[in-house]
This record gives sequence, C-alpha cells and structure tokens, in this order.
Amino acid sequence: MTSHVSHASAGEGDWIKTSSHVCRLDNILSPSSAAYLILDKQRLSDTVVRLTLHAPLVALNAQPGQFVLIRPTERSERIPLTISHADRVSGAVTVIFQEVGHTTRELGGLEKGQSVQDFAGPLGTPSDIQRVGTVACVAGGVGIAVMLPVTRALKAAGNRIIGILGARNKSLLILEDEMREACDELAIVTDDGSYGEQGIVTDALAALTQRDRIDMAYAIGPLPMMQAVCDVTRDQSIATVVSLDPVMVDGTGMCGGCRVRVGGDVKFACVDGPEFDGHLVDWDSLRSRKAGYREQEQKAREASEEAHHA
Ligand SMILES: Cc1cc2nc3c(=O)[nH]c(=O)nc-3n(C[C@H](O)[C@H](O)[C@H](O)COP(=O)(O)OP(=O)(O)OC[C@H]3O[C@@H](n4cnc5c(N)ncnc54)[C@H](O)[C@@H]3O)c2cc1C
Ligand code: FES
Repeated sequence: MTSHVSHASAGEGDWIKTSSHVCRLDNILSPSSAAYLILDKQRLSDTVVRLTLHAPLVALNAQPGQFVLIRPTERSERIPLTISHADRVSGAVTVIFQEVGHTTRELGGLEKGQSVQDFAGPLGTPSDIQRVGTVACVAGGVGIAVMLPVTRALKAAGNRIIGILGARNKSLLILEDEMREACDELAIVTDDGSYGEQGIVTDALAALTQRDRIDMAYAIGPLPMMQAVCDVTRDQSIATVVSLDPVMVDGTGMCGGCRVRVGGDVKFACVDGPEFDGHLVDWDSLRSRKAGYREQEQKAREASEEAHHA
C-alpha cells in the first residue's frame, strides 16, 4: 500500500492520513524524535533480512504472535512486521522481513549502527498457546519467520511439534536450523526439488495426517498456501490457526484498513488478530482487499527501483 497514505511533516506530531481517515497516534507510537538503534543485521537470503534493534519497552512486553509497526525513516510509510525474537534482558528485538517493495527495501538498506525512526509495539493479540498434543506447524516463504516464535512457544507449552517448511527453492529457505531446534520433527519441501522433498507443503501435510494423529495445525505463509492447508485440515476436522496479513495502516483498530471477514463477522486483523481460525476465514474477500492497492504498490516499486539504479 503506498500512495494514498501520507505522514505529517516533522513538528506536527505523529499523524497518519489516508484518503478517508486521519488519525493521531499520540501515546501509541513513539515520538518522532525517538530513534531505535540497529544492533545487528544479517542477510538470510538474497531478499530476506534479519534486523535486531534496541527497543527495551517492546522487548519487555512482547509475546508470540505480536507485531510492530516500523517506519524506517521520517519520510517512510509504517509497515507491520512480526516480532521474531525479543530479549527482555538486553532489550533487543528481532524482525525478519522480505524485501518486496519500497518500504521493505528502505529498511533493508539500513545498516548496523543506524536507527529506524519508529518502532511501535507490541501490537496485536498474542497467540493462544495451549498444550493440545501434536501440532503441525506449516510455513512457507517468509512465513517461516512469523512461525518461529509461535513454534517455540508451542514447544515450551509441552506440545509435540511437527514442522513442515516450504520454499520455491533451496536458496529461499530460511531459518532451517532454528526451526529444526524448535520442532520434534521437521520436513522440508521445495517446489523444484532442489532441497528436501520435491513438492508443496500440502502434499507433506496430507501424508503426515495419514501417518500420525494431528491435534492442531498452524499455517503461516502466502494466502493461497494457508487456504490450501485449511482445505486439507477441514476434511480431517483438525483445528487450524492462520496468521493474516491484510494491509495495515495504524495497527490499533482505528482506521478499518485491515478488516477481514471471519465466521461471517467483520474483524480487524490488527487488534482481533492477526491469528484466526482458518476454517472460518473468508479467503475470497481477503484476496480482493489485498489486491486493491496493487497499482499504487507497483508504481512505488518502480520508483524505488529507478532511484536505486540512478
Ligand atoms: C501483522 C503482519 C505481520 C507481518 N509480518 C511480516 C514479517 O515478519 N516479515 C515480512 O517479510 N513481512 C511481514 N508482513 C508483510 C509486510 O508488512 C509487507 O511485506 C510490507 O508492508 C510490504 O511493504 P513494501 O512497501 O515493502 O511493499 P509494497 O510494494 O507496498 O507491498 C507489497 C505487498 O505487501 C503488502 N503490504 C504493503 N503495505 C502493507 C501494510 N502497510 N500492511 C500490510 N501489508 C502490506 C501488500 O500485500 C503488498 O502486495 C506482515 C504483515 C502483517 C499485516
Ligand atoms: S490497521 Fe487500522 S484498524 Fe487495523
């Protein structure tokens, strides 16, 4: 999402303006003068970056499943990213993101020792972590980064965890070691067979449900993947949680930008989610809402690429 959102200039305070809505973010977002130091930066693949920042208040309160709103520079948009790890003692918070457009590229361009302008959170409802038995944690692409803290929490709660990770090819697979450590068993599939089994995560999940009793599933990744996982688990009556990523603006339930339909009701993913019962999600309406900003996003991507090559 890009051109229909703007930010007030320095000195006017923290405001977000959309074509239909203006909201003041006092007491929610940090003042523009605060800066969050980047303590570490690592590239996990060509397009995936891990950043660790100093944000003690976020670290202190963060729980699995929550996210932050980040604004890389004073002139940037705010984007939501999941808290991948939080260290309460050192005050360090880690996010892992894929460079897909203008703002994620801006963030990926920052280096250790630089700061981001805003780092607001933790936001969203934490994951409902229970001891249920055997849990299948199915993740694809950068969704693996979102899955990692949930997997660790499910394991710590005493569940047996079977992880299934999917990527288009070996070079795009991230966090294999960390997920292996968090899971009792881990299966890897790649579309092209360059690593693990050749196939997609739903093949591996369907095979798993034939061999093992699965009490619950988590699915985090691209929308079609999460929907396909829900189709497999619905047939077998396996409760399934998904993490939705509609476009978010304020992240605090005020603008309605992130509304999704779940079980016939309208929910705001930023406060009611981002995790929901996947069998109740209206996937078609989510797909069409996510596509609503494609033209503006494409223009911003092209402008960002031109600026990069200039
Ligand atoms: C709760 C939540 C947690 C997320 N966690 C992660 C994460 O841990 N790692 C990660 O790589 N990505 C995560 N995302 C997605 C991430 O926010 C988008 O990739 C990012 O906003 C893209 O911005 P852009 O300007 O780089 O790209 P753009 O070119 O503007 O957009 C690329 C795509 O990103 C999505 N997007 C754009 N703006 C927003 C926005 N404000 N809010 C939500 N989605 C947007 C759209 O689907 C769009 O098609 C999360 C999204 C949500 C809602
Ligand atoms: S992002 Fe504004 S209501 Fe959720």
